[in-house]
Amino acid sequence: MCDSCKKKFYITTPIYYPSDKLHIGHSYCTVATDTMARYKRLRGYDVMFLTGTDEHGQKIETKAKNAGITPQQFVDNIVTGEKGVLDLWKLMNISYDRFIRTTDDYHVASVQKIFKAMYDKGDIYKGKYTGMYCTPCESFWTESQLKDGKCPDCGRECQPAEEEAYFFRLSKYAAPVRKLLTETDFLEPRSRVNEMVNNFIDAGLEDLCVSRTSFTWGVPVDFDPGHVVYVWVDALFNYTTALGFMNDKYDDYKDYWPADVHFVGKEIVRFHSIIWPAMLMSMGMPLPKKVYGHGWLLLDGGKMSKSKGNVVDPYLLAERYGTDALRFFLMRTFPFGSDGNFSNELLISCINTDLANDLGNLVSRTVAMVQKYFGGKLPAEQEADPALDDALIAMASELHGKYEEQMEHYAFQNALSEVFAVISRANKYIDETAPWVLAKDESKKARLARVMYNLLETVRICAGLLTPFMPATAEEIRNRIGAETYDWDDLCVYGKLDAQTTVTAGPALFPRIDAEKELAELEALNAKPEEPAEDPLPEPLPPVSFDEFCKVEMTVVKVLTCENVKKSEKLLKFTLNDGTDTPRQILSGIAKFYKPEELIGKTLVAVTNLPPRKMMGQESCGMLLSAERGDKLNLVMLDDSIPAGARLV
Ligand code: ME8
Repeated sequence: MCDSCKKKFYITTPIYYPSDKLHIGHSYCTVATDTMARYKRLRGYDVMFLTGTDEHGQKIETKAKNAGITPQQFVDNIVTGEKGVLDLWKLMNISYDRFIRTTDDYHVASVQKIFKAMYDKGDIYKGKYTGMYCTPCESFWTESQLKDGKCPDCGRECQPAEEEAYFFRLSKYAAPVRKLLTETDFLEPRSRVNEMVNNFIDAGLEDLCVSRTSFTWGVPVDFDPGHVVYVWVDALFNYTTALGFMNDKYDDYKDYWPADVHFVGKEIVRFHSIIWPAMLMSMGMPLPKKVYGHGWLLLDGGKMSKSKGNVVDPYLLAERYGTDALRFFLMRTFPFGSDGNFSNELLISCINTDLANDLGNLVSRTVAMVQKYFGGKLPAEQEADPALDDALIAMASELHGKYEEQMEHYAFQNALSEVFAVISRANKYIDETAPWVLAKDESKKARLARVMYNLLETVRICAGLLTPFMPATAEEIRNRIGAETYDWDDLCVYGKLDAQTTVTAGPALFPRIDAEKELAELEALNAKPEEPAEDPLPEPLPPVSFDEFCKVEMTVVKVLTCENVKKSEKLLKFTLNDGTDTPRQILSGIAKFYKPEELIGKTLVAVTNLPPRKMMGQESCGMLLSAERGDKLNLVMLDDSIPAGARLV
């Protein structure tokens, strides 16, 4: 079928804040989205899978400032840098069709137009904001919305804030949004609807502050300099600008909008199920068909997060167990709509039980037997035994329907349970038919061949349906059993594998893990202090002329005395021999890095033509040269052979 005749399916992930190191919790939603996108492709849909990064806001501006770089450099490091967002999606084999960065020019220009359109309509107006602001969440709250005086989303302190700002008439849309939530299945799981309606809509939906003036890292409101668009307005519209809404960068809006489903974490359901539809209504745009709020991956009962210092590193896990095992674990172990507690024990047990024992064993035993008994190729002559075969054949034939039912409801865990029920049944079938007994009797060759075929055919159907979850493994199995494709229609029909298929052996798909040893190793790895992330390089300075450079007097000095400055944690006081008859006094803020006694007698370099300045009431005549990056500092030291007073040239 040509692409334009195919049914469209548009699915999105939340766009990630490139502010923290990514942990396995971040992969959860994107792996689920990827699984759904691959499933829909398998079903013959023309899929658009969008993901990206949400790069504006005060939090990023502040972090960049602390790191001494521009916000753009800061986000570039985390998005495109080593082990950044793009690397992670590559590692997790995420098959996104489009990646949007909210700092992309086309998006910025589109958001400006969208903001202006809502303003022109009268849905955005200028007012004064007084309230509480949670910086990490980039969220404004009224006093009544705070929980125990803290941010209701993250539980952290909020700061009072007042400024001139633009507001979006969210209150105007309370009734239609309420109707959308209560009378349609727009928001799933349905358990999330009550929370939204009771806590937010019925509690009184106030107009939303949609611009800021206290920082600049955002989309500028082009008709009112000094204001930047609230980061959530900027972020939510990514789902449409990435298709070309209000820009010429893409031309896919009419084909893919409205989205079939937005997958989002439960803490951002409010933004997606109240604010987002209200703004779309204001813009007169069709609403997405569904928002699905998934649960969190917890660690020791709390949300995984960098700030809690309990990050689980997806790189480490994928390196040890393989990407497919990790993807599978995430989808198999936790129901998508609820929270799930991550643990290494669960991960290892899932790999050993489902992947090594059940799936891996079934494939390797079957392929090995076909090789051993038939030299790798099944003979044409095969003999069925309905009493033994029919139960397995029925299960394998019906699997696609049960699987589809679960997948269409985003019940990934249940879909996998259906597949693994058939895999277990196939393993049982091996015990029931005892191929090794049949093999001893030449007259049972045809029967043995049919047993092998039934096993291979069951493997084909199961592995084909596992493609969205474990794409590389499914492909490997396809090659081993000699199946040509995993076409959906063929997965719905038992008997599509060539009766005389040829198999190919290979190494164990999932080697069994020695759980005790592995857990001890993981614990040792966890105990190792994490390498501090390297500080980004400082921004390059503007060029200086050689003449200017030569004006700096850098002199070799020998440390005569060195002591801590009283009442200062930072300062060391030096008397130095600079080659003249008068000792020179310099104060330097390096007490954290050196003990005074270890520096006495050392040969250092000082800038000696700076004007004297007072520090803690004492005069400092010059500056000692040192190199600094992150939390490391080294004084520039020379060997003793060079006399005091020598100049650096
Ligand atoms: O919310 N378990 O970005 P974000 C499961 N930029 N999911 C988790 C998780 C965990 N432990 N930790 C994070 C944002 N997530 C906004 C989105 S969309 C227009 C803007 C999920 O980087 C989280 O629930 O903080 C969210 O869905 C996603 O990671 C991105 O979170």
